[in-house]
Amino acid sequence: MATIQTSGRGTWNSKLGFILAAAGSAVGLGNIWGYPTQVADNGGAAFILVYLICCFLIGLPVMIAELTIGRHTRKNPVGAFKKLDKSGFGAIIGYWGVLCGVMILSFYLVVSGWTLAYVFEEIFKFAGNTGLAGFFGDLTNGPKNAIFTIVFMLFTVGIINGGVSNGIERATKILMPFLLLILILMAAYVMTLEGSAEGVRRYLLPDFSLISLDLTLSALGQAFFSLSLGMGALITYGSYLKKNQNIVESAVLVTVFDIFIALIAGLLIIPAMYVALNQGIQIFGDDGSLLSSATLVFTVLPELFQNIGGYFGLFISVSFFLLLGLAALTSAISLLEVPVAYVIDEHNVSRKKASLLVGAVVLFFGIIISFDIGLIDVFVAIFNEIGLPLGGLMTCLFLTWIWKTGNAIAEIENGFPGAANSRRLKVWAFFISYICPVLIGIVFVTTILNMIR
Ligand code: TRP
Repeated sequence: MATIQTSGRGTWNSKLGFILAAAGSAVGLGNIWGYPTQVADNGGAAFILVYLICCFLIGLPVMIAELTIGRHTRKNPVGAFKKLDKSGFGAIIGYWGVLCGVMILSFYLVVSGWTLAYVFEEIFKFAGNTGLAGFFGDLTNGPKNAIFTIVFMLFTVGIINGGVSNGIERATKILMPFLLLILILMAAYVMTLEGSAEGVRRYLLPDFSLISLDLTLSALGQAFFSLSLGMGALITYGSYLKKNQNIVESAVLVTVFDIFIALIAGLLIIPAMYVALNQGIQIFGDDGSLLSSATLVFTVLPELFQNIGGYFGLFISVSFFLLLGLAALTSAISLLEVPVAYVIDEHNVSRKKASLLVGAVVLFFGIIISFDIGLIDVFVAIFNEIGLPLGGLMTCLFLTWIWKTGNAIAEIENGFPGAANSRRLKVWAFFISYICPVLIGIVFVTTILNMIR
């Protein structure tokens, strides 16, 4: 009763609420499992440097662009581009985003389901006596995988069904502090274990001779995924922003927070891998390269936790998978919100019906993937490695040539008329019009060439 709504659309209740929701979207499996293994795979701190450059020079400007389009149009990505481009051509970018949202979520859910499975396994030992080493193979090889995918989806749909401030904002406000706490405590604990110093050294000592085109491609892809860019998630979140929220400041905060969490996750995972190595657990394959990230996170680490033993080992293990699960949940809701907002806005369906309907479609693909997890790589290649940069590229081009950066700057300044920022915003416009599209374009073309080679 207390709040006056100007339209039926939700809005964030508080500035902090939005920042936490956007940070919740950003911080996810990408930070805690993707980033550390990318760093380790690419030779350590040299990757971090390139990654930071990608986040600030490309990710941040694109994030500001998405939020601005969202707040200006107050629509889902399809509606937003339609509104800004009467020819209807722009809407293709929105449809592509909705499609990527559905597809990325479908494999994201499967992996998220694993976190849940490990928490259950640890607490109830329901997997019997296979032990954790065999558990991953057992889990991913049959209907259990589908069951956990479905359960995780139910959580996600439940939150989205609650709406913007009552669902997304409230859930992230509760979950994010927990996530931060568990992460920091765990990283601190791993530091006390034998062998961790070697991991810290590998993580932080740069070897700049390792910087290459491939490394740069991975870094940019990782930046897009981690910051939740390129498919309109932040257009959608931006559409629930009040006019007086400072878009630039919020985007900087979210970017910095996401990077901060990734950096700490690196301090947890990479040293933990070397602790495991120190205990004789295999972390390298026969060819001397690091095992896959799935193996590292879902078999090496559990084995390490098991070696700790007792209730304390159990506690550490459960905390870790809970951490991963919470991070995944606040990201999954942002992936689901995009197609749900599209269905609500464009097809006049209630939020409840929309979330059930989209949830069912996503689950359809999720269940298929859960029976053949090799498909995850295919989905990653198409929707993540090609889809997101393509979406980001089209967004930059659209903003420059169709909507025009001047209009975007006016929207950004809306809450702060005549803001002293305008020089800063001119720099931003220059990035969106030239730097970002050229760099993303290079990466995009190279990625495709790499794939067909
Ligand atoms: N950023 C999340 C992660 O790091 C994943 C994610 C959530 C995402 N929403 C997104 C990726 C939108 C791309 C687009 O795990």
